[in-house]
Amino acid sequence: RPLRIIGVPMDLGADRRGVDMGPSAIRYAGLDRQLTDLDYDPTDVGDLTVARPEVGDPDAVTPETGRAKYVAEVRDVCTRLADEVADTLEEGAFPLVLGGDHSIAIGSVNGSARDADVGVVWFDAHADFNTPATTPSGNVHGMPVAAFLGEGEFADTDWAEAGVKEENVALVGIRSIDETEREALRDTDVSVFTMSDIDERGITEVTEDALDVASDGTDGIHVSLDLDWLDPNEAPGVGTPVRGGVTYREAHAALERTARRDVRSMEVVEVNPILDRSNRTAELAVELAASGLGKRII
Ligand code: ARG
Ligand code: MN
Ligand code: MN
Ligand code: MN
Repeated sequence: RPLRIIGVPMDLGADRRGVDMGPSAIRYAGLDRQLTDLDYDPTDVGDLTVARPEVGDPDAVTPETGRAKYVAEVRDVCTRLADEVADTLEEGAFPLVLGGDHSIAIGSVNGSARDADVGVVWFDAHADFNTPATTPSGNVHGMPVAAFLGEGEFADTDWAEAGVKEENVALVGIRSIDETEREALRDTDVSVFTMSDIDERGITEVTEDALDVASDGTDGIHVSLDLDWLDPNEAPGVGTPVRGGVTYREAHAALERTARRDVRSMEVVEVNPILDRSNRTAELAVELAASGLGKRII
């Protein structure tokens, strides 16, 4: 099975410098070997070029997108990433995108959904549903879901070109949500499965529901895995940790369920080796990607 590894050393969408080293840390954690053991035939295309913060404009404001730091630089990277992901699929290979902060999902999702109807499963502590008008931080990594769904100021922009439908998007494990995000999400058909849902119903049932949402009437699923989905005890190397995340076993259980479905593309994001302990978060990212790509204990 041909697979393409696409690194995106992006940190312009987040305040904490260090996620730009995520792709490198994930490779160092043994990604290639893990994939080869799983009978994939991985080709590593290296990293996309990302502007350094020093050359970009943190206060950029465009009429179209309002307050969003480094909006031009983020857009440029996401446009190239979307092309890379779409080309990978067209050539019959599986795109595995390594972040970088979560703003890159705007590119991966638009690429995956360019020539197909795609559902999205979003494993995250955060809803990432802010817009330039609602964002408390100005950071684009808090906006990708709103962006690819064309919410608010993102309506009719190229950020939402691929036409992913709200009813095919499921957020899983949410526990940190801004008031403005909560209100905006109430008016959409996006499915939000919180940590409380996981407490009450268990990870397996919740994940199955999320996968059903993303599969319903679509050609396949894009899996977006933000490592801050896990509890910070498991995944300390992330920029925006939130207590009370899923456990190591719950994470594997969810990704193992995911692998049984029609997964068409995947990304692992927000690994920050500077804040990590002995690269354990990157190692976890490799393990979870493997589970999501079909690895079994026996
Ligand atoms: N909601 C906050 C914001 O908009 C935090 C977003 C964190 N997102 C992430 N991908 N880690 O800034
Ligand atoms: Mn996120
Ligand atoms: Mn489409
Ligand atoms: Mn997050």
